[in-house]
Order: sequence, then structure tokens, then C-alpha cells
Amino acid sequence: MCGITAYCGNDEALPFLLQGLEKLEYRGYDSAGITILDKSLTTVKCKGRLQLLVDELEKYDLKGHVGIGHTRWATHGIPSHLNSHPHTNDKNTLSLVHNGIIENYRELKEELVNKGYHFQSETDSEVVVHLLDSYYQGNLLKAVQKVLERIEGSYALCILSTRHPDEIIVTKKDSPLVIGKTKNASVAASDIPALLAYTKEVYFIEDNEIAILKANQIHFYDQKGKEITKESSIIPYDIDAARKNGYDTFMLKEIYEQPYAIKETLRGRIQNETILFEELKNIDFLQFNKVYFVACGTAYHACLCGAQILERITHLPVLTQVASEFRYNDPIIDEHTLTIFVSQSGETADTLGALRLAKEKKASTIAITNVLGSTISRDADYVLYTCAGPEIAVASTKAYTTQLILLMLFAYYIAQELHLTVNTKAILQLQQVPWYIEKILEDACQFKEYATMLKDKHDAYFIGRSLDYASVLEGALKLKEVSYIHADAYVAGELKHGPIALIEEGSVVIAVATQPHIASKTISNIQETIARGADVILLTTNHYQVKNVENIYYLPNVEPTLQSILTAIPLQLIAYYSACIRGCDVDKPRNLAKSVTVE
Ligand code: AGP
Repeated sequence: MCGITAYCGNDEALPFLLQGLEKLEYRGYDSAGITILDKSLTTVKCKGRLQLLVDELEKYDLKGHVGIGHTRWATHGIPSHLNSHPHTNDKNTLSLVHNGIIENYRELKEELVNKGYHFQSETDSEVVVHLLDSYYQGNLLKAVQKVLERIEGSYALCILSTRHPDEIIVTKKDSPLVIGKTKNASVAASDIPALLAYTKEVYFIEDNEIAILKANQIHFYDQKGKEITKESSIIPYDIDAARKNGYDTFMLKEIYEQPYAIKETLRGRIQNETILFEELKNIDFLQFNKVYFVACGTAYHACLCGAQILERITHLPVLTQVASEFRYNDPIIDEHTLTIFVSQSGETADTLGALRLAKEKKASTIAITNVLGSTISRDADYVLYTCAGPEIAVASTKAYTTQLILLMLFAYYIAQELHLTVNTKAILQLQQVPWYIEKILEDACQFKEYATMLKDKHDAYFIGRSLDYASVLEGALKLKEVSYIHADAYVAGELKHGPIALIEEGSVVIAVATQPHIASKTISNIQETIARGADVILLTTNHYQVKNVENIYYLPNVEPTLQSILTAIPLQLIAYYSACIRGCDVDKPRNLAKSVTVE
């Protein structure tokens, strides 16, 4: 899970490399490095955060118009100077950066050591540069093709050679890489925000395709080395969207962007109460006898909501599974199964693996993702995009609520396609969700107040039923991942089967009761916790008057199926302010990365 940048142009390479790595730092970092090619290769790398590399580079007067950069999130080998990228060959004529995992690196390393190659690091990535050296006979493209025939696993690679001083070779398989063109340079990076200050014109290559970046042109090749042409795409948002815009943190900015992000996701989807999904017009939904939602983390919680809503309004059997289970549990799916893969980054390894299994089993596959041209978006049969804009904070907020809105639209779309009665009131209210969220955001200070209840707590308990249970699962994940408070979510009806043993004087219980058919039961469960000394925060609607709970927040009354989107906002802000009070690094929580592109 690393960040890569590459620059080949008429200006100095270093500024692009460093600004791009800074944009990618959210992807993970324990070391960073760059190589600049100016007749010879100069590589500078440091353990630790990117700033340490910037400080180290002050000692050099590095000039050169071709270069590569890397921030590392350790997969093989501890964080150290030697294990950081770029990696070079013994003769210092080749340098490369890698994101991914070379799964057969041990056997390749043994083969190369037997040929007399010396390894500096413990990494799998270093195998690639020596293997390339062993195949290089003057034609770098051919040598790269031979390397791709030998290595197994996932990779995004950017390669420099002193013998080809005016170009960079890039290629990928199962790891993200986006290529950009400016008026006088060609660039590449692991993710779009790294390019946006320089260009909005981008290209995507398929697995094992190769691109040669030159200052004024880019050449594309298929796996066999045959030159191919590629159409460019224009990124619909600008660099500011990837910056904080005056907020203290990306997470707070992205929480407040949710009304806009939801408007953008809804745009063009509803016409006179009819739901439009042009992208899905060739699907005959009557062919399916089962629907599977598959995702990880927050995206999985969005699926739990989407699946319940779909089942509630279409009576189709709908299952939801975390991708890391789905892909190894031999699910019963076939050509009559519709599988939906939800992923903000579109690069999550487990979700990608699950998608590929579904395709092997002939299921129809739909991806719901937030990143244009991401691997999952290109592997699925169909793709629907949330339009949340770049989500930089590791803790997902606007991606979650735009996933929810898209999944709700999707459920109503299928009901429409199956000629079922569609709840037009819900369709109308969907369009008012941005306005409702703005009203809730005006009450942020109340959620900041609730957060003070958690300041010195080690544990927090979330309870809910039905759709509210999916909401509290997400609320618990948000709290634990940014504040490091141990937070667990329970089906409220399960409390008496064990978890209530944990409740004692001063325990903080966060309850959600918004679903008319079941809310009164949750409210009874709340009383059980109060009787054991709990301090309760309740998110509900004004249908319910609840005794002896002083911290009640009344959410706007909307159709029950839409309630989860509104419930998310207070839970996000409670998590956010808890993390701030506890001095946590909100945008880059410990041990976490924004997109988990390795298993
Ligand atoms: C969300 O707050 C977490 N950072 C994490 O659970 C995330 O949702 C999960 O890794 C899935 O990522 P994806 O949506 O990019 O596939």
C-alpha cells in the first residue's frame, strides 16, 4: 500500500515528485525516496515521514528532468533506509519504485543470488530491478516484458534507465496507477490527487499493459509489446477539491462536503420520480434469483443498509458478505446471481479478489466506486460512480453517505425495473437529503458536547436494530478508527444474551432508534442499560418520547429507508470530536491506510 510518482518532461522533476508524494502520504508511509536521472542516477531515501526526505534533499542540489518517487507502507521488510524505495541495480543504471506484492519473490531472489546478484534490502520489490538487469540486452521494453512474464502478484512499477535517459517505463497489475499528460511532460502516480496540480488529462492502462513516458508523448503497448492507442479522460474536479479548503482536517472537510457530494451523486438520476441508470440499461433483472453485496469496512456497512432496503422493497433474497470471507468461502453463486461490489478506492485487494471470483462463477458484477478508472471499476461488468470527489481522510465519511444514497437509488431502480410499486414519497425525500444533512450539521456543537462524554473512556457501546444496526456498526467503526476508543456495536435485542454484562456505572451507550417497526424495542433495551448505570446518547425521531435519557438528538423524520444517511452525520461528528479531544491524528490514524491494496 505505497504511493508512487514519476515525471518525465522539460522542467525539473523533483517538484512534481515531492508534491505528488505529499498528496499520496495518506496512502501509507514509513519511509520515502526519490531517484533523479540526469546522465547518472541519484537516489535519496529516508526512513520515516516524507518531511525527513525533504529535509535530506536540502543537502543536495539535485537537477534533472526525469525522476521517480515513492512513499512506503511496509509489506516486506521493516521500515528502514535500505528497505525504502527506489531500488537500484548493482551498476546503478536502473532504478525502480513498486507498489504491491511480488508473491514469488523468494524463488526469484534465490535464482538471482545464484547468478551473483547482491541484495541490499529484505524487500520483495528489489527482486524486480535485478531481474530487469538480468534480462536487459539494450531494449528496455523487451526486458520489462520478460520481467512481467516471471513475476507473480500485484505491482505498479515505474522504471528509470541511464541507457534510456529521456523516458520512464510504467506498468501495473492489480495495483493502481494513473498516467497524466501536461503540455511539456508525462507523469504517473498511484492516485489522481498527485497529478491534479499539473493536469486533469489522464490515461488508464489495463493490467500488464506498458507505457513509455516521454516529455512530449506517451507510447502504450500491450503485454506482447504491440503498440496500442489509448483515449484520455478528463478528471472532473480540481486540486482544491483535494486540499482542505480551510478546514482543520480532511475528515472535517469531507463531513461538511456531504450535502454537495450527495447532490452530485444524485445528479441526473431522478426524472419525474423515475430513477435513471443508463449504465445498467442492458441488464435484465428478471434473470436473477439472488443478489450478493460484497465489500470491506465502511463500504460493507453501506452494503448492509443497501441490502436490507433492496430486500424490503423487492422481496428478492439478498445476502451481504465481507469480501475477505466471500472470496475464500466458495459462495453459491452462478449466472443467476447479481453481485455488487462496493469500494471507495476501487483498489481494495479483498474486494477485487471477491469480484474476480464472482466473474469466474459467471455471476453478473456491478462495481460501485468513487474513483474513476480504478481497478474494480474496470474489472466489473458494470460500474456506478459515487461522486464524492477525492476522499483523503482515512476514515470514510462522504464516500459512505454517497454509497448509501446510490444503493438506495439502486434499490428503487430495481423495484422500478421489476415493475413493483415504488414509494414515490421516498424518491422525493431522497432529493431533499442534502438539505436535511445541512440542518443536522448546524447542530455540530451538540455532537461535540456528546463527545466530551467519551473523553476518558476506554470503551463505548453502540446498539440498534434492523437498519439502525448497520448504522451503529458504522458509528462504532468511525469512533474506534479515529479515537482509538474500543467501540463495539450490538444488535439491541442481543444485549440480554451476553453483552449487557459489560454495562456498569458510567458506561457510555450510543443508541439509534429510527425504524418505526422496531424502535420501541430498542428504547426498552436502552432502559435496561440505564438501570445498570449507563450514560446514554440516543439518536431517534420525534415519534418517540423517551424517559430518563437526557442526551437525545431528534433526527428529521424521513422515510425509514432513508434514515441511515441522516443517522451517519451525528455518529461521524461524535467520532471526529472524540478523536480531536484525545489529540489523535484524525486524518492519518495509527496502523490504518486509506486503501488496503494488499491482503
Ligand atoms: C473506513 O473508514 C475505513 N478506512 C475502511 O474500513 C474502508 O472502508 C475499507 O478499507 C474499504 O475501503 P474501500 O471502500 O476503498 O474498498
